[in-house]
Amino acid sequence: MCCRILAPLIAALVVCCCLAEEEWRVPKRAASLKNPTASDQQSIEAGKTVYQKQCQTCHGRQGKGDGPRARDFNVRPSDLSDSALWNETDGELFWKITEGKKPMPAFSKLLSDEQRWQVVNYIRTLAPKPTTQASSNDGDSQ
Ligand code: HEC
Repeated sequence: MCCRILAPLIAALVVCCCLAEEEWRVPKRAASLKNPTASDQQSIEAGKTVYQKQCQTCHGRQGKGDGPRARDFNVRPSDLSDSALWNETDGELFWKITEGKKPMPAFSKLLSDEQRWQVVNYIRTLAPKPTTQASSNDGDSQ
């Protein structure tokens, strides 16, 4: 009797685990979420404080993924100073910080929404914006 209930659950779990091994996909809805926190001096400073406390041990002072704890894991913390980060929307970064991915913890409970947006604003300052000359779709794509 209980197998009827459990079997699909286990199957779902297995699927989830397999997917987790794959690339880190962000749901579309989350990716298109707009950052409600203006990227001003104040929010960047607040984000920096959060970063130094919660992220720096893994991602390193400049975001290069070389914090003191980085060598404890077989997955290297992402280089947040890579301008490729600009290929991701604020919503995507926010979602990744919210959900985490082993060994990175989920910050949904550890940080408020506002703090997570602030830290997004801060990590944006670590990666230089890619030069616009090569991009064909200039203008602010919504
Ligand atoms: C315990 C170590 C650890 C801590 C603490 C940690 N991270 Fe990470 N982070 C990682 C690892 C490892 C990855 C790579 C995960 C993967 O791709 O499998 C990652 C990936 C990311 C990514 C994805 C980058 C991309 O290319 O899409 C972002 C953004 C990020 N971390 C931001 C943060 C922020 C902001 C904090 C603090 C609030 C934080 N991390 C704290 C280990 C950590």
